[in-house]
Order: sequence, then C-alpha cells, then structure tokens
Amino acid sequence: MCGIVGYIGGEQAAPILLNGLTKLEYRGYDSAGIAVFDGREIRMEKVSGRLQRLKEATGNGAALPGTIGIGHTRWATHGSPSDTNAHPHFNKDRSIVVVHNGIIENYVRLKQHLEKHGYEFVSETDTEVLAHLLDYYYGRTKNPLSALCRVMQKVEGSYALGILFKDYPDTIYAARKDSPLIVGSSRDGNFIASDVPAILQYTRDVFYMENEEIAVLTRDVVSFYSMDEEPVEKSPVHIDWDVNAAEKGGYEHFLLKEIYEQPRAVRDTLSPRIRGGQIVIEELGMSDEEIRSIDKIMIVACGSAYHTGVMAKYIFEGVARVPVEVDLASEYRYRDPIFGARTLVIVVSQSGETADSLAALRESRAHGQKVLGIVNVVGSSIAREADNVMYTWAGPEISVATTKAYSAQLAAFYLLAMKFGQARGALEDSVFSEMLASLEKLPDQMEEILKNRESIQRFANRYLAAEHIFFIGRGIDYAISMEGSLKLKEISYIHSEAYAAGELKHGTISLIEEGTLVVAVATQEKLYLKMTSNIEEVKTRGAFVMALTNEGNKDIEKVSDFTLYVPETNRYFAGSLAIIPLQLFAYYVSLGRGLDVDKPRNLAKSVTVE
Ligand code: AGP
Repeated sequence: MCGIVGYIGGEQAAPILLNGLTKLEYRGYDSAGIAVFDGREIRMEKVSGRLQRLKEATGNGAALPGTIGIGHTRWATHGSPSDTNAHPHFNKDRSIVVVHNGIIENYVRLKQHLEKHGYEFVSETDTEVLAHLLDYYYGRTKNPLSALCRVMQKVEGSYALGILFKDYPDTIYAARKDSPLIVGSSRDGNFIASDVPAILQYTRDVFYMENEEIAVLTRDVVSFYSMDEEPVEKSPVHIDWDVNAAEKGGYEHFLLKEIYEQPRAVRDTLSPRIRGGQIVIEELGMSDEEIRSIDKIMIVACGSAYHTGVMAKYIFEGVARVPVEVDLASEYRYRDPIFGARTLVIVVSQSGETADSLAALRESRAHGQKVLGIVNVVGSSIAREADNVMYTWAGPEISVATTKAYSAQLAAFYLLAMKFGQARGALEDSVFSEMLASLEKLPDQMEEILKNRESIQRFANRYLAAEHIFFIGRGIDYAISMEGSLKLKEISYIHSEAYAAGELKHGTISLIEEGTLVVAVATQEKLYLKMTSNIEEVKTRGAFVMALTNEGNKDIEKVSDFTLYVPETNRYFAGSLAIIPLQLFAYYVSLGRGLDVDKPRNLAKSVTVE
C-alpha cells in the first residue's frame, strides 16, 4: 500500500515528512514525493525509486522550507513507477496538491468527464483525477471542504487523501474511505498518516478516521466532518505500541497481518472488475470472439502461484469448458511444450521477478504465444514483458510466505473463468448471477473465519513436535491441500505432503502410522462420501484426522477427530475460505516452534535465480 504523511505546526515540515515516510518504507513502495507550502507557493519534489533519492534531491528537506506539507510513498497500481506518476499530484495552476492511497475505480469515466471540460493530464495515475476534480469543484464552491465533499460523492473506490489548497495555507484537508488514515495531535503541531509508525515519535495520541470522514487540521485545532459537512465528534486513542509492533499494525508478524489483509486484497482485486452485474477485465485485451477462439490455456508458475494454477484448472474446465494445462515454470521450459496458435499462456507471479516464471514467459513469447500475466507488483519484469497483465491488488506482501497475494490470485482466476464461461456460452446467465453474488460475498465470509482463530491456535499447539503431516483432498480440495502443505513446510520446517485423497492408497498410505496427523479438506459436496471413506482409510491405520469442511456437513465430523468449518459458498470459490484455517494452522505451529515466521530459513521472497 502507499504511505501518506502530513504535518502542520511550528517546525519545518519537510524533515518531518521525510522521516515519517522513512518509517513507512516497510510497506513497500516504488516512488516518493513531498509538497510543502513555503508561504508563497506550494513547492514539490518527487522521484521514482528509493526514498534516499528524494532526501538527496531535497537536501534532506532543506530545499523545501515551510511548516505545512504532505508526503507520499507510492505502491503503483495504475501507471508504472516513474517520476511523473509519483505523488503528490497538482491541479493545473498548482494551487491544489493531493496525495492518495487506494484505488479510484471509476477514474476512467471521471477523467473523460474532466477532459471534456478542458482538463489535461500528465500522468497515468488514477490519483491525478482527484487533483483536477478538486479544482473543478473548488472553482464552483470556493470552499475546500465543500469541494472535497463533492469529490467524495463522485468517486468510487478506496482512498486516503492528504490535500493542500494554496488559498488556505494554514490548513491540511484529509479524507478516507476503505484505505486507513489517522490524525495525530501534539503540542508542536498536527499530523495525518497512513499508519501509526510514521508519527509515533511525535505523538502517541491519534484519531482513527472512519469511512467517509473528513479531517481539517490547522496548527492548533483538528476538526472532523461528515460528507454532509456536518461536524463529527471524535476521541483520541493513546497508542502504547513500540515502533516494531506498530509497523505490523499491532500484529506480532507481517504474516498474520497479511493473513488478515486477505479480505481487503480480494475485495480490491474483485470490485474494480465487477460493474453493473458484469465482469469487466479491460486489461485482458481480448474480445469475446478472441476468448472463444482459445482452444487451450497453459498456466505456468512456481510455488504458491503454481497452486493457484492447479485450482484454476478445475475452475476453468468446470465453468468455461476450456482445456487447461498447468506447469511448474522450471519444468515447462525444458519439456519442449506444444504450443498452438489458439493457446493462451497465463504466467502467475506475486513478485513478477521469479526467474523460472520469467524464463517461461520469454520461452512462450519466443514461440509466438500470447501471454497474460497475473502479477501483484506493478511494473515488474513479468508485468512488463507479458502481452497483457491483470494485476492483483493485494498491496505489498512483506512476509516471505505468501497469503494475501495467493488469495488475490485466486480471485483473479475466478473472474477470468467466469468471463471465459460467459463469452464461450458455457455459463448460463442464471448460474453466472448466482456465482457473482457468491463472489461478492467472499471477502465478508473470509472476515468471519478470521474472527475465530483461537481454536486453530489451540489445535496447532498440539502438533508442534510432529514430524510428518499429510494434507489430502479431491479436486479443488487437492489444490488447497497443496497450498496448506507448502505453508506448513515453509514456516514450520515440518515435513508435509499434499496428496490426492483417492491416490493415497496407491502407496503413500504406508507412511501413515499411529498418531500421524492427516488434514482432510472436504469442501466439495459431491465428493463428501469419497472423502469420508478416505478418512476412514487413514483412521484405521492410526491417523489423527483434522477435517476441514463446509458448515452443515455434519457427517464428516462423525469420522474425524477434529473438525473445522468454513461458510458455504459456490463450490468453485470454496478454496478461498478453506485456505485461511490452513494458513493460521501453519502460522501457529511455526510460532509455537519459536521460528522466524516472516523470514524462514533458506527462503527468499522472490526467487530471482533459476
Ligand atoms: C510462497 O509462500 C513461496 N514464497 C513461494 O513458493 C512463491 O510462491 C514462489 O517462489 C513464486 O513466487 P512469485 O509468486 O513471486 O513468482
């Protein structure tokens, strides 16, 4: 996510802004900038790359004198990392400047509206729309608060905003919807920030802004308003975290923080692409006719991204009736794959820099194949070299073991499969509508599961000394078992295998002995009976079985030793819910074993070597 800092008080603003942005570096970013009012005009400096470049460009802030300013570290979502796309963004006459964290989902329509009114754009960002829209409404209201309220009524999507108006040099305006924003108050001035670490050294008294609230900060007073310009009373919260805990938003590890960010990552990936009851994936770059012409999809990736591909095979073939091959990128390149003129290659990668996946992309393109990237890091190598890229908007993922990016990748595949199903006439409208309703409910259901982590923590603590743990499932549940097993191995160092439940009896079941933990994933109703018999198979050989199934499936509880339930959803989306207890199980086993949850031994966040 982007980082925002703002300050107004008796001190020079620029050093405080740079220091605050430094404290937000952990969030991941690709460019940075600050804007300061020097008494006559608003001066700005912004650069792509590291914050150090900005510090050098501004003489650690000395080049931008003034006691009121806003700053930003950008995590690109619309428009690759560049000086021009960095924030802050000005209106045309540089009388208004804005920084933004979030996604303006209707920015294309707003941009077209503004261009019709003569506005010109210099960047590729969605954020620049806000600067011109503020200009548009300020020109009509001559009141910053009214102008901001009008903008908030027009904008769809998520935002945390910091704004300066040259005509109001003693005031910072801020607003939020879905993207976090806090206000800090102290004797030496007042602050806005995306997160507590940015201002913790200046104040521990903060106001957490609610959705669609506006903050107005002067040197001495902080006021809050609703979108109707009505005053809002708020009480400050005293923060007693240390800085280290603050960077994780109060969570003990980035991994847990990112597990809990999954509903938002899925919501941010889905909602901009669901409009008026239809799925709109502009970045796909394919007409319905071109989609119909595809006779094979090849999904290529590594690790967890590969597991989303295994899941996608079941979904594409079930929903869109298009044949899908899934390959490990490191295998794909050397098996001399058979390409076809009507094959679509999809390369999935969180980092967009995984050497094996990048090489597989290049191999595919060298054979004239059309490649779609599903990538989390904007402007990364895979994103740049694919013919088209569908971004997952999970925000920066810090923990080495992926969670929220994985979930966002699944969400991207749901959209693609449904889009393909519709275009190919394989998905009836009534079924499409039901699936879309289930899809839009998914983030809320994920949040429900996340509320009950205590039982998983207790169960995990019983298996800290385990040497072997097996995950079994059928179909989509087999794909989920793969990811659950990898999560456990990555961060707890316990040996684990995921097995197609129906295949276990063909050899591997010989490894099951008294007390072996077997995690049986059973979300697919048509396979419940088969899974029940597979559970009985391992139970008779001494296994202890943790079943993971849908609410209401009480039968499997009768044959299992410990049963976890997830809410009912469309069978194709069940993996997004079932993976959460497995992520939490792996997290608590690792925690209980006293291991480095966020930086496991031998692993790198992005494997840029083959
Ligand atoms: C997942 O938890 C691992 N960190 C690893 O398997 C990862 O998924 C794999 O290296 C692929 O990374 P990518 O998505 O950045 O390409």
